[in-house]
Amino acid sequence: MSTPSALQASLQTRPVLAAAAGMETSDGAGVSLTRLLGTPRLRMLDPFLMLDFFGSDRPQEYLAGFPEHPHRGFETVTYMLAGRMRHADNHGHEGVIETGGIQWMTAGRGILHSEMPEQQDGLLKGFQLWINLPAHLKMTEPRYQEVPAAGIPVEAREDGVTVKVIAGTTSRGTTGPVRAEATEARYFDVTLPPGASFAEALPEDYTAALVVFEGALTAAGTPVEPLGIAVLGEGGQAVATAGPQGARFLLLAGRPLQEPVAWGGPFVMNTREEVMQAFRDFEEGRF
Ligand code: CO
Repeated sequence: MSTPSALQASLQTRPVLAAAAGMETSDGAGVSLTRLLGTPRLRMLDPFLMLDFFGSDRPQEYLAGFPEHPHRGFETVTYMLAGRMRHADNHGHEGVIETGGIQWMTAGRGILHSEMPEQQDGLLKGFQLWINLPAHLKMTEPRYQEVPAAGIPVEAREDGVTVKVIAGTTSRGTTGPVRAEATEARYFDVTLPPGASFAEALPEDYTAALVVFEGALTAAGTPVEPLGIAVLGEGGQAVATAGPQGARFLLLAGRPLQEPVAWGGPFVMNTREEVMQAFRDFEEGRF
């Protein structure tokens, strides 16, 4: 095993507070999912609310898709690892997220949208992450940031380590195309060859987690296997070492909002009254 060359002796390694396997579930019109965050086991990690992984080559597990549904008060981030997903909303915004591409949707005051597989067979695989918005942005105008695979920079490190930088800036200075000012979210897709190590400096008080989806790794002495999430405690840097099969994982980090969370289905606000208002606005056609 190599010593991660980015490891800084002056920075404390973040411990693993909890490591949890994802939970099998289904959502939308019956899409099979593995939920990693937003479960009884791991309710939320401020500012991250929910994380789903979908990965199947059996059409009956994904064809039904996610027909029209609303969102208000947060952002949904769809990262396609394989396959194609068509998105359309009630304001006329429509497009297809292709393999390797990202759609970062700031739902803000609200949209109605559908997310449907743009394929009849083959592998459909990816993540959807929900990121909370602070009170002053919950009712902001909806915004899309859509970036195809070719627009996502890949940072090459020593020992064959690569980092796809979707949002935020790495400790080496690579900046992703997505602007996530509200939470200063970092969204990195990291690939480690067998035995390779990775270290990344992060602001001490930011929430951080590793989400392993290929191979396996060890973080601060704790093994993490796919599909699994390791919640990191406070410290100056995240550190991980791949097992003999290598590893691929998401590094998610962001500034905690530390605000009350009132969560009602597809609406995430600060108070119960605001959630009730969202249901009324939805039912009365104000989205
Ligand atoms: Co949605």
